[in-house]
Amino acid sequence: MPAFQTVRGMRDLIGEEAQAFTTIISKARETAVLYGYKEVITPHVEPLELLSAKSGEEIRQRMFIFKDLGDRQVALRPEFTASIARLATTSLKNEPKPLRLFSVGTVYRYDEPQRGRYREFWQSNFELMGSAKPEADAEIVLLTNNLMKSLGLHSYAFKIGHIGVIRGILSQDGVDEKTQNAVLQRMDKKEYDEALKLVESEKCRGMLRGLLEIRGNDWLDSVEQIQTYVADYEKAKAAAENLAEVLKLVTESADITIVVEPAFARGLEYYTGMIFEIYIPGLDIALGGGGRYDKLIEAFGGEPTPAVGCAHGIDRVAIALQTQKTALAAKAEKKVAVLPITEAMKSEALRIAQGLRAAGLTVEFEVMGRKMAKALEDADKRKVDFAVIVGERELKEGSVVLKDLVKREQSTIPIDKLVEKIKS
Ligand code: HAM
Repeated sequence: MPAFQTVRGMRDLIGEEAQAFTTIISKARETAVLYGYKEVITPHVEPLELLSAKSGEEIRQRMFIFKDLGDRQVALRPEFTASIARLATTSLKNEPKPLRLFSVGTVYRYDEPQRGRYREFWQSNFELMGSAKPEADAEIVLLTNNLMKSLGLHSYAFKIGHIGVIRGILSQDGVDEKTQNAVLQRMDKKEYDEALKLVESEKCRGMLRGLLEIRGNDWLDSVEQIQTYVADYEKAKAAAENLAEVLKLVTESADITIVVEPAFARGLEYYTGMIFEIYIPGLDIALGGGGRYDKLIEAFGGEPTPAVGCAHGIDRVAIALQTQKTALAAKAEKKVAVLPITEAMKSEALRIAQGLRAAGLTVEFEVMGRKMAKALEDADKRKVDFAVIVGERELKEGSVVLKDLVKREQSTIPIDKLVEKIKS
């Protein structure tokens, strides 16, 4: 049989890489606790209908879809939001609002694999349901900022827009919702000429072209430009005002770099308000993204419930940490190898190993039955700090030999002083 490989676009994470993921996940979970988000774990497989209903063409075309043995059309989740919205219409329907829910895990999209783009990838996901207020939008941006900061990332910027600006222009000029969705899909891919071709009215095309020109590093100036530009479009104007309110709250409460892009669209179709993505310099892939979606829960048969949320791409955050050479706070724990000199010493050595672990030390027990010299050589290679050598002679006096593999020293230590000595 040939050696098996992973399925295209899916990866094994080994050693340090797995460790980096675990650290990012812990930080995301800490952020969830700090902001009062309750963790929920939902299935990887969901009804196809749920996942495709409001996600948009882009996601629909990239789902892993199959029939289960009971002939049900199901799919691997391409994101968390649909599952969380399902929860809000079922088990959590009667929970008091706001609902703050956090999830972390793998999601699946049949994207073209490249650096930072995989078919199985990890997200940490936050949803805040029940509030239409700008402070809810601000919270999602602020917690994302908190997460990035706590990981030691710097110089990142939030690209922010409002889907209501483009939709407001299109709907006032009579463009139906289906066409609006098609226009937004193309704008998300930066295929602006293709997007404009879908719009019949020359006036409306002109408005969109003008919107593309507005962008800048001074968020207040950009938002004021948008407000003036869309003054004759009632809904678009209201959207720009809402964006201004959100950004005022964000910038007055934290030191955050904001780039306003009114013509910015996102691949998912359910957004109704503020949308954002986060980037670091030199890496052209979003580390996370999200926005407001006020109609999704209703579309799934729930009570009308405004909501806002975001997801962070853990695979990409790991790349960002490498790019910025950010050292994750590695746990500086001492590693110990416990090595019995003879077969007869195995049980005693195991008991000592258990005692060290109970005291919180990381212990690798010699399971290969190697001679002492070989076992020590191996411990050295694995960057073990101490070897505890369990021999008959020392044991008779309640002691073992402790070898400091870093300092290259050794001494005989009573077993009951071992933890103290290693920890010092
Ligand atoms: P999204 O922008 O589709 O939003 O994905 C969020 C993040 O997942 C992206 O910013 C990126 O970091 C990561 N990501 C996306 N595709 C890939 C891929 N193929 N490989 C690696 N990482 C990837 C959502 O999923 C929304 N559910 C976010 C949301 C929650 N909006 C409201 N609530």
